Amino acid sequence: MTEHKIVELIPQNNEEDYNMILPAFLSIWNDLEHHKFLTFTLQLFTKEMASSFFKHHLDQGCRYFAVIDDLKTIFALSVIKINNIESFDILGLGVRPEFKHKGIGGSLIKHAIDLAASLGFKAIDASVFADNTNMMRVLLSFNFMPIRINNHARADGIDLVVMKKYL
Ligand SMILES: CC(C)(COP(=O)(O)OP(=O)(O)OC[C@H]1O[C@@H](n2cnc3c(N)ncnc32)[C@H](O)[C@@H]1OP(=O)(O)O)[C@@H](O)C(=O)NCCC(=O)NCCS
Repeated sequence: MTEHKIVELIPQNNEEDYNMILPAFLSIWNDLEHHKFLTFTLQLFTKEMASSFFKHHLDQGCRYFAVIDDLKTIFALSVIKINNIESFDILGLGVRPEFKHKGIGGSLIKHAIDLAASLGFKAIDASVFADNTNMMRVLLSFNFMPIRINNHARADGIDLVVMKKYL
């Protein structure tokens, strides 16, 4: 991988961003190894579902960040949900399988922490399924703490662990 950077994609307003994010999202989120960590229903994401997120994300308070290289290849994506009254949430995060364990996921988490702090938030939330030891370890390494468990949140009965980091 050549030099990479984190950029915000705004598919709701920008067709080039929409065309970049749609295939990357479907490929990362539907990857067989990843999928169960990124879905409540265990159903694959269809193009129509993803397209609907991307056409309305600003209205829903969601922002997308991508790790890209000079050729605009996307290696990883994060989805942040900002609710100015309630919370700043890392809603989703996925790294292409062949680029895991290179610090890319961690760089997106650090970017989210910095963004939350720059917007004046005093805490940042991230939720992780209880069988997702990789994500759990990365979040713990950034001093996120488990604060709540939503029992049987995923369609196969696995719990969701809500983690919080105070800024
Ligand atoms: C969880 C996930 C986002 C982590 O992304 P990642 O890019 O692999 O994360 P990092 O590389 O920053 O950290 C992973 C590990 O690699 C290590 N690492 C980081 N840079 C490294 C490097 N240059 N060389 C070797 N190891 C490295 C980290 O220390 C960390 O070690 P640990 O597992 O012992 O804590 C990624 O595995 C993923 O996309 N999983 C599937 C989807 C998913 O679970 N998303 C989260 C939903 S809540």
